[in-house]
Amino acid sequence: MWNRLILILPVTAVVFSCTRPKLDSKDNLRNYYREDFKIGAALSADDIVQKTPLESKLISEEFNTLTAENVMKWEEIHPLPDVFEYDVPDELIKLAKINKQEVIGHTLVWHNQLPEWVVQDEQGNLVDSTTLFQHIENHINAVANRYSGDIKGWDVVNEAISDQGGYRNSKFYQISGKEFIFKAFEYAAKADPEAELYYNDYSMYRPEKCDDAIRLATEIRKRGLRIDGIGMQAHWQMNSPTIEQIETSILKIHKAGFQIHFTELDIDVLPYAYNIEGANLSDNFESNPKLNPYKEGLPDSLAEAQGKRYQEIFKLFYKHGDKIERVTFWGLDDGSSWKNDWPAKGRTNYPLLFDRDFKPKKAYEMIMSVKKEPT
Ligand code: XIL
Repeated sequence: MWNRLILILPVTAVVFSCTRPKLDSKDNLRNYYREDFKIGAALSADDIVQKTPLESKLISEEFNTLTAENVMKWEEIHPLPDVFEYDVPDELIKLAKINKQEVIGHTLVWHNQLPEWVVQDEQGNLVDSTTLFQHIENHINAVANRYSGDIKGWDVVNEAISDQGGYRNSKFYQISGKEFIFKAFEYAAKADPEAELYYNDYSMYRPEKCDDAIRLATEIRKRGLRIDGIGMQAHWQMNSPTIEQIETSILKIHKAGFQIHFTELDIDVLPYAYNIEGANLSDNFESNPKLNPYKEGLPDSLAEAQGKRYQEIFKLFYKHGDKIERVTFWGLDDGSSWKNDWPAKGRTNYPLLFDRDFKPKKAYEMIMSVKKEPT
């Protein structure tokens, strides 16, 4: 009998290995799009420090790049002139090393989540440009230097272009005109010569805004400074922007010679009753029940429609995979998305690929079927 078993075993093993579904190397986002672009997620401090085993699994399996959602912003990492808060960012770097993932630094110079001392003196007057540049230099030297070698790329300057065209009239701009932008790129290149450097903004599908960003990036290069790519944030709605608008921006940025990163993708499914575009944090509205219709759950029809919307977007990304470096989702799951609180507080939104239990939604499935199997 033992002889027979020994004879049978190898045969069954062969049969088993043939009939078993082939181990699919494309069964997660990062593998599915490996040849096309990197896939990332922005992580909150909770995602970094207090994640559950399920979150850990998602983070490590689905993504090959991570962005700090908040913990590397100026007010978090450098709240006072001599105080730096490196604990959680350090954890992010450790996590990425364990998972063999790249880290994107977000963001060195941004008018939001910025401590007042950077731009104002104790009397509340704007500081002069020499003082501002000193603050920016100290900040970038400290932060970008600390993580040099660990960061794939920095969003060096975020949202310096206004929605109306031209530069945003931030305190940075009031103090120095556009010069603060060039200084930031100059200091970042010195502090971390290996990191890629990006300019990042929202509503980049709008032709004027995209043109302004390209003009700025081109001027950075003309001044002999380094900039590698342009980040399109991609906080989008179900119907806006159109695929054609996104494609036009991809083609323009590529033609101008810059890498393209989709840096903060999410698709808002709630009623959009606001007369605003983009992702300006200072736009904040009162919620009311009409604006928060899916408190009890995402209706199947809407999950399906969102899936289709994501699929159309990823078809476009796939088509231009040779021009796109990275697509990062702004958050891990619907429950922790910033879109529950913006542009109105306390709503129940569903903008991402994973639900509040970290289960893949219809949108995940539909993104994973963008490339048709060969027939
Ligand atoms: C958002 C975060 O997701 C929120 O947690 C925070 O309260 C506000 O900022 N554009 C950006 C991101 O570049 O940094 C913003 O992130 C969303 C809009």
